[in-house]
Amino acid sequence: MRHSKIAGIGKYLPEKVTTNDDLSKVMETTDEWIQERTGIKERRYGKKHEETTTTMGARAAAIAIERAGIQKEDIDFIIFATLSPDYYFPGCGVLVQRELGITHKEVGALDIRNQCSGFVYALSIADQFVKTGMYKNVLVIGAEMHSMGLDFTTRGRNVTVIFGDGAGAVVLQPSDDDSQILTTKLHADGTHAEKLAYINPGSHGGYHSKRLGEEVDYGYPDDDTYGGIFLTQHMMDNAQTYPNMEGQFVFKLAVQKFPEVIMEALTEQGLKPSDINMLIPHQANLRISQFVQRKMGLRDDQVWNNIQKYGNTTAASVPIALCEAYEAGAIKKGDLVCLAAFGSGFTWGSALIRW
Ligand code: UT7
Repeated sequence: MRHSKIAGIGKYLPEKVTTNDDLSKVMETTDEWIQERTGIKERRYGKKHEETTTTMGARAAAIAIERAGIQKEDIDFIIFATLSPDYYFPGCGVLVQRELGITHKEVGALDIRNQCSGFVYALSIADQFVKTGMYKNVLVIGAEMHSMGLDFTTRGRNVTVIFGDGAGAVVLQPSDDDSQILTTKLHADGTHAEKLAYINPGSHGGYHSKRLGEEVDYGYPDDDTYGGIFLTQHMMDNAQTYPNMEGQFVFKLAVQKFPEVIMEALTEQGLKPSDINMLIPHQANLRISQFVQRKMGLRDDQVWNNIQKYGNTTAASVPIALCEAYEAGAIKKGDLVCLAAFGSGFTWGSALIRW
């Protein structure tokens, strides 16, 4: 059977460093609180009006393409995972295609909306395309420009201090040796969709909150007004256009689902946690990663953490961490690498890779 491998990998982190102390100047928070609860010391923010989710994705992609030893013209398909797209539509897939100048073959471009697990979902889809022989060089990008959409007041501090900007990308190709993606496992449960969400602007019209018995006033007009109501003035005035998160609820599920989905992949492959050379967990919270590490019985050198420097970069966090580990020489040919992510939806997944 045909398999795919990661033939090239790249990352891009914007230059601007924002420390916890910087944030404490605009909202009531402290370096001590942030470090104690999340492990984060600083994060990067893209340069407003110059950098976007797409441009950062393109920078990471260009490196991945070069390292894969191909030209951009060789790309057969593009998959872009993000929750902070440049536009509501069209998605970043087509924008990055234009940015990189890959328009000559009119290759397909797909956007993935799976938040923190977006890259793992994207990788799994790319893997299926390569396995079936449909495409040879699939570009997979995870990128975020969170800093444009966060609430930088005390009201938003429980979410804002966590997130950062950045991008990571890989090129998947058919494998001709043992280097390959062994398996991917994807899961979702939409029961608690609103526990970690960015719901406005949208077409929901208050439906879900009513269905859940938690009717919220979004300022929709009472009459049968047509259109233009994805976004109301009421939403703008009442801070309903920011992400919201019930942190402890998410935390408790995350520490359950990470080990579950890692074990599911290992068990299918007849492997055990001690076989993992490098676990790359989605960088949601250092405390979550440490919990998972303990639960799986892994040593420090078997888990890659970089949330201290970059915060949570959602769909970008797994490819950034994977790229960083690779560049540091912490992943060698033949190593068993495990990717795992959990986040909004809730959606979660894992991938086992023989490097
Ligand atoms: O990547 C997507 C998946 N996301 C996650 O996995 C996130 C999972 N959850 C978490 O990481 C944690 O729940 C947080 C880091 C978000 C929050 O930590 P926590 O220990 O669960 O804190 P909390 O939300 O229970 O808040 C504790 C207190 C509250 O004050 P009171 O009510 O006890 O007076 C908050 O208002 O901390 C307060 N607080 C803050 N204080 C200073 C919340 N945010 C901040 C802040 N600075 N930034």
